[in-house]
Amino acid sequence: MFKIKEKRYLAENICLMRIDAPRVARSAQPGQFVIVRSDEAGERIPLTIADYDREQGTVTIVTQTIGFSTKKICALNEGDALADFAGPLGNPSEFVKMPAEELKGRRYLFVAGGVGTAPVYPQVKWLHEHGVEVDVIIGAKNESLLIYTDQMREVASNLYIATDDGSAGVKGLVTDVIKDLIDNKGKQYDECVAIGPMIMMKFVALTTKAYSLKTTVSLNALMVDGTGMCGACRVSVGGKTLFTCVDGPEFDAHQVDFDEAMRRQAMFRNEEHAANEKGHKCNCF
Ligand code: NAD
Ligand code: FES
Repeated sequence: MFKIKEKRYLAENICLMRIDAPRVARSAQPGQFVIVRSDEAGERIPLTIADYDREQGTVTIVTQTIGFSTKKICALNEGDALADFAGPLGNPSEFVKMPAEELKGRRYLFVAGGVGTAPVYPQVKWLHEHGVEVDVIIGAKNESLLIYTDQMREVASNLYIATDDGSAGVKGLVTDVIKDLIDNKGKQYDECVAIGPMIMMKFVALTTKAYSLKTTVSLNALMVDGTGMCGACRVSVGGKTLFTCVDGPEFDAHQVDFDEAMRRQAMFRNEEHAANEKGHKCNCF
């Protein structure tokens, strides 16, 4: 069992938990994920690691309550325990393996959408700790749904905020900010990394392709075993079928078939809706 050391809401229906998981904390790297189950009968939920503390032996996850199983996780409280916390899974971000001299001088642009801001944080933090300059764009529907802005300011060279309704930062989408930075502010980047809803990653990829800007996305496909055995998480990348859990979760955004990935993500929407209707009423937030 994996004890919840801290639980708090970052925004409506977005819950942060710091989990006692020393073995995972010891080997976690930016870009990797864990698979969590609230109880023995629970569904396996993949969550990208939002932070880790090797000394304290804790791993931070951020969960949005979008369905029955995520509501069950977020209904747990400090002192309770998760039944399973498997990880770290997947490959670390590519920059982790880059030689220091190659990494130094590279200019990164991170694009974080909504709850996808949480997994962007450990990547930007890692690059900052290794002396790499990183610009970050955070997009959210409105000011109340912005998360991790204070932590991100501490590690980003520049932080740009966009909200759909203009309640904070500029009014518009993250893609508007990318175009403004490159077209009007003279910014140049070697790589863009985008993490957020699939539709956002699709449009970030289309935007950066026009600038021939290498772009990496972290896919949050449906998963079952997380070990490459079941095929649930398959995605098409450059015409090849790959498994998000063992080949990813990060892929070349310009090669991903996002339309197929979005269709697969929506495959169990009816079952999820039925489970929600039947089950669990959550008093989250
Ligand atoms: P959201 O719908 O509020 O979108 C966040 C931002 O993305 C928007 O403010 C906008 O700037 C941008 N965006 C959205 N649609 C766009 C478009 N068509 N073109 C350009 N930009 C666009 O985000 P949310 O409600 O927090 O998203 C939740 C989703 O994120 C869930 O589906 C969840 O599964 C996913 N998620 C993904 C990851 C990952 O690893 N990829 C991690 C956490 C969450
Ligand atoms: Fe089963 Fe990836 S989750 S192959």
